[in-house]
Amino acid sequence: VRHPAEPWRIKSVEPIRPTSADERRGALAAAGYNVGLLPAELVYIDLYTDSGTGAMSDRQWAAVMLGDESYSGSRSFYRLEAAVREYYGYEHVIPAHQGRAAENILSRCLIRPGHHIPGNMYFTTTREHQELNGGTFHDIIVDEAHDPEADLPFKGNVDLTKLERLIDKVGAGQIPYVSLAATVNMAGGQPISLANLAEVRELTRRHGIPVILDAARTVENAWFIKQREPGWAERTVSEILRETCALTDGATMSAKKDSFANIGGWLAVRDSHLAEQARNLVVVYEGLHTYGGMAGRDLAAVAQGIEESVREDSIRTRVQQVAYLAERIAEAGVPIVRPVGGHAVFLDAAAFLPGVPREQFPAQTLTCALYLDAGIRATERGAVSAGRDPVTGENRYPRLELVRLTIPRRAYTQSHMDFVADSVIRLYAQREDLRSGLEFTYEPETLRFFQSRFQPL
Ligand code: F0G
Repeated sequence: VRHPAEPWRIKSVEPIRPTSADERRGALAAAGYNVGLLPAELVYIDLYTDSGTGAMSDRQWAAVMLGDESYSGSRSFYRLEAAVREYYGYEHVIPAHQGRAAENILSRCLIRPGHHIPGNMYFTTTREHQELNGGTFHDIIVDEAHDPEADLPFKGNVDLTKLERLIDKVGAGQIPYVSLAATVNMAGGQPISLANLAEVRELTRRHGIPVILDAARTVENAWFIKQREPGWAERTVSEILRETCALTDGATMSAKKDSFANIGGWLAVRDSHLAEQARNLVVVYEGLHTYGGMAGRDLAAVAQGIEESVREDSIRTRVQQVAYLAERIAEAGVPIVRPVGGHAVFLDAAAFLPGVPREQFPAQTLTCALYLDAGIRATERGAVSAGRDPVTGENRYPRLELVRLTIPRRAYTQSHMDFVADSVIRLYAQREDLRSGLEFTYEPETLRFFQSRFQPL
């Protein structure tokens, strides 16, 4: 894979500093072997997330200066509303300060105790809100999505038999909506195809079940459709994005991803009754329905970011930078999830560290090793992220035990990617030395991966 030349140049820089091995050892122990608890200043290359960590453009910063801070009816809100309507195609737009805030509003509107919510693999915050409202999540993604080596173009697809079986079993009336992500974060940033989405649409239409999209990375999904799905190569990313949304009834959005914003999100729906309900709740949890927890300048930055996100050169550079890092790592034999997704390279930690048992959290252990080696911060996406089963209280052990090297948008250069690849390859060569993992010393009840602490075994 060639790293394409970026369609931008750097106008403003932020210094970052490499650390010494001693410094890192001390910092990691103080952070309870959870890289998420490290002070960011002690991280050299921060691949913890692609959420809110991208570089805003000069146009976005200009939009920030032009943001309208009126409490109600801000000009910046109308700009955002117009951008969502134009690029995503939903009529009613309700701002929320980030993705999970939109999920909270949506889940409270639609989910009642005893409901069942099918989805193409879980996402941490999304499932949390479904469960908090008394719902049960059901994974209806294709089996191959759970196999890191299954190299298929659309591993985010829904298995329609699984969906149909669930509808037969619990009844359509107990399914408030189907929750679809594009791309699927926890599967490795895998896309869903338009053909599959159309089939889901058709099945759910027959049963009167709405489809709600998690649109955080749907521009990346559109790029993969253009590359891989027959019949779409000649269409623009913008058209494919519209087409994707047209097959759904609404969306929750974390604007911190595709839209290059440091904060922001929205909920958008077609149904005016649901929109009214959501507006009433957003006032309780976020702020007035024309700012939803964001400053006017944030609304403006998101609106500008949406317009930039669908440009072909922009999305191409984004996805190919991820592919470049993946190829360098894979060339050295390091096990990664195939195919490479849109926002991150996922290391198969179970295969990387076969000597560390699942109960000792190989993915968490690998994030620690990566930090110690060169100050790189990655994310655990395995059993620690999966949490405990709310009924049995047992640890959930998903088949995928992954470490995510998440690439912030427009923030790091090719030499940074080379630096990361060198560190991963070096660690892989030393993997025999890593035979023991970690145990919890503190485990929060919800979304435990963010704040848990560990000790080495
Ligand atoms: N949906 C998906 C698919 C996500 O990846 C995220 C966040 C959210 C919803 C929630 O959005 O953070 O704005 O509240 N993902 C980040 C990550 C945190 O690192 O993957 P949020």
